[in-house]
Amino acid sequence: MASLQEYLRENRQAFLEKWFEALRIPSVSAESEHKPDIRRMADWLAGTLGGIGFDARLIETETNPLVFARSPEVPGKPTVLIYGHYDVQPVDPVGQWRTPPFEPTIADGKVFCRGADDDKGQSLTHVFAVMSLLAAGGRLPLNVKFILEGEEEIGSTALSAFLEKAENRDLLRADVILVSDTDKPGADQPGITYGLRGVVGYELTLTGPNRDLHSGLYGGSVRNPAQALCAMLSDVLGSDGKIQIPGFYDDVLPLSETERAELAKRPFDEAEALEAIGLDASFGESEYTVVERRGARPSFDINGLTSGYQGEGGKTIIPAQASAKFTFRLVPNQEPEKITRALEEFFRARLPEGIRMNLEFQHGAGGMVIPLESPYIQAAARGLASVYGKAPLFLRDGGSIPIVTKVKDRLGADLILAGFGLEEDGIHSPNEFFTLRDFFLGIEASAAILTELGTVGDK
Ligand code: BES
Ligand code: MN
Ligand code: MN
Repeated sequence: MASLQEYLRENRQAFLEKWFEALRIPSVSAESEHKPDIRRMADWLAGTLGGIGFDARLIETETNPLVFARSPEVPGKPTVLIYGHYDVQPVDPVGQWRTPPFEPTIADGKVFCRGADDDKGQSLTHVFAVMSLLAAGGRLPLNVKFILEGEEEIGSTALSAFLEKAENRDLLRADVILVSDTDKPGADQPGITYGLRGVVGYELTLTGPNRDLHSGLYGGSVRNPAQALCAMLSDVLGSDGKIQIPGFYDDVLPLSETERAELAKRPFDEAEALEAIGLDASFGESEYTVVERRGARPSFDINGLTSGYQGEGGKTIIPAQASAKFTFRLVPNQEPEKITRALEEFFRARLPEGIRMNLEFQHGAGGMVIPLESPYIQAAARGLASVYGKAPLFLRDGGSIPIVTKVKDRLGADLILAGFGLEEDGIHSPNEFFTLRDFFLGIEASAAILTELGTVGDK
């Protein structure tokens, strides 16, 4: 039998091919035309996990199927539940991709494709690690379960409902949950994320006249919904980076000095980070560092604006309607429901006569910070250190994985968020990539983490 290292080395090409198969399936959850691709992706995963001896199956839901798989039993060892998501973000703006978004393309040591990192690439590192541990050792170092969902990017409705039933919670029961859906701080600097921001999303639609009007005939005599929308939205955020909604910060906990010191350890070069995204200035609350603003303070962002004529040339109209999609990132202790009520009131108070509004709540989840005392976290840290040669940094990330808090709470298990990707991978952006190095190191890191987790509880 080959050693783990040999197996990993000899199977690089095979892992790559499998990964590319998965990447070619355009499993975009936000767009209904991709429903069949979502299913193909779920089938592919169940097939792959079944192929390595796992008991794997699809769990049908009212929306996208869940993929559940469990390893043959490893008696006397703890159980890890590996969570990931097989859905991806839309590829829009498709014209900005340099290569076809669903044809994995290698250039510069990177694999460009939607989902290369988020989260097909990262989730698959665990699948390939398990495959390798089985092939090299004949058995796994602990009991492994997978739960892979197909709607993380649109709010995790199905998994959330699934967790409400006791029998389902028994099925997923584990000692520890392992997730790779975040970033590490540097190519050779591993991290364990102990905090994530929450997120709450809305669409605000303003309606004025019953049709688009000639702006010469009517201009100056009726309210323009696009302008009303701009005014209402611009009231939300002050130029000091503070959200202006009354009560918004009431539940925000202050950052302790110890925590600020921990966050300051994250290597972060502001000038370099700005250059990478083509900017010459940052924005936000000046009394907080950029790392703090991103990971530990709330924020408000318009994600999309729609109104009026967007085609070639111009068109002199007053649009009948205007709408915006936007999100708030939340920190622990802030409640999405409370934010919704305050927001509704804030907009109502600003709604001009002659305009109707509809505020649609899309999804919401609170932020989290987890204690670091867990022996499983310490074990994962040892595993990461053995592969990267450096102890992991402990991070609070700005992104959200709304379901993980719920999975953790409902299952009463410890949680490890160990990301193998980098911020520069451009998740959600055109030309998303995952470096080959991070992918292969991720497989190795997963194998090391699983091996260490298997020792927890040993005397
Ligand atoms: N993997 C990301 C979240 C993430 C990325 C967290 C990097 C920390 C570091 C996840 O797939 C994601 O994009 N989540 C969405 C959730 C939303 C659609 C409800 C997000 O954060 O916007
Ligand atoms: Mn993700
Ligand atoms: Mn994402």
